[in-house]
Amino acid sequence: MSTSITKDIVFCQQLLKDKKLVAIPTETVYGLAANAFDNDAVQQIFEMKGRPKFNPMIVHIHNVAQLEMLATNIPKNALKLAKRFWPGPLTLILPKQELISDLVTAGKATVGIRMPNHKTTLALLEGLDFPLVAPSANPFTRISPTSAQHVADYFGTAIPAILDGGPCRVGLESTIVGFEADETIIYRKGGISIDEIKAVVGDVRLITTNETAPQAPGMLLKHYAPKTTFVVTNAIETELQKHEGKRVGVISFFKTSFPKATVVKTLSLEKNIEEAASKLFASLHELDGKQLDIIIAEKFPEEGLGISINDRLERAQK
Ligand code: TXA
Ligand code: MG
Repeated sequence: MSTSITKDIVFCQQLLKDKKLVAIPTETVYGLAANAFDNDAVQQIFEMKGRPKFNPMIVHIHNVAQLEMLATNIPKNALKLAKRFWPGPLTLILPKQELISDLVTAGKATVGIRMPNHKTTLALLEGLDFPLVAPSANPFTRISPTSAQHVADYFGTAIPAILDGGPCRVGLESTIVGFEADETIIYRKGGISIDEIKAVVGDVRLITTNETAPQAPGMLLKHYAPKTTFVVTNAIETELQKHEGKRVGVISFFKTSFPKATVVKTLSLEKNIEEAASKLFASLHELDGKQLDIIIAEKFPEEGLGISINDRLERAQK
């Protein structure tokens, strides 16, 4: 089978105009994109991902004029956050305009909107007269892809093209923020830390529940899951002892040596949390392909992006 990985932006624009799907690079993770204004195209995404219809999609834009076309009654805090973090790993949940279909929003009166910070995808968007819906380009509940190859590993040539923009710089999905009355609500912890959001809008409410049909199904308990049994712990050595004789993979923030482990992935020798975040999903993908009996991940310090990383690790464990 020939690969569908390409760097040809014009080719990808043509596919999107023809109602086809294209996987696109962003700074967070790769997305599986389609014309947001075309329900036939959007429908194909649900099928390709095996995604339940109750799960709404994020609409990707490249300028603020598009924001006003898609959303209405935009709160001041939303504008402040957009100004501070766009283009970047922030999704705003806002009251939708008519032209966004119920298929995109799963029947909700709100729409998730984001301006990704990736020059390839911004150039792609600039040449289109429609925005793109793009959920992460992984089958439902699996680990999000942070390279073109990850997408190809999941879908092969079933996707007409995978636009290659290199490895994702942030490596965690966007932080999802919504608004109710005067409140700012964080629905998904992501590439922008809670403290960074607070610095712009003051207090926030964190949604931490895991209902079966949650506001943001990124909050579903089982998500981002490798196939291999997966454990998160503060005490790696103790956990390793429980699995003597087995093939064990370890994911550690900055440590390199665990004599009882079969393979160790160190996320940042320099203890840099951004670097660790950017390598997390790629390390999970890699270890998941090594026929290990178990993967043990070290819990991160519960601060800054460490909070978002721990969120993903905990979901991978369920
Ligand atoms: O970083 C990202 O956000 C990536 C890249 C590709 O942009 N996209 C992404 O999409 O993570 P997805 O579909 O895998 O996750 C989007 C999350 C879902 O949990 C969805 O439920 C939530 O956003 N969402 C979308 N629209 C929403 C809405 N109107 N209200 C509440 N949650 C919404
Ligand atoms: Mg996803």
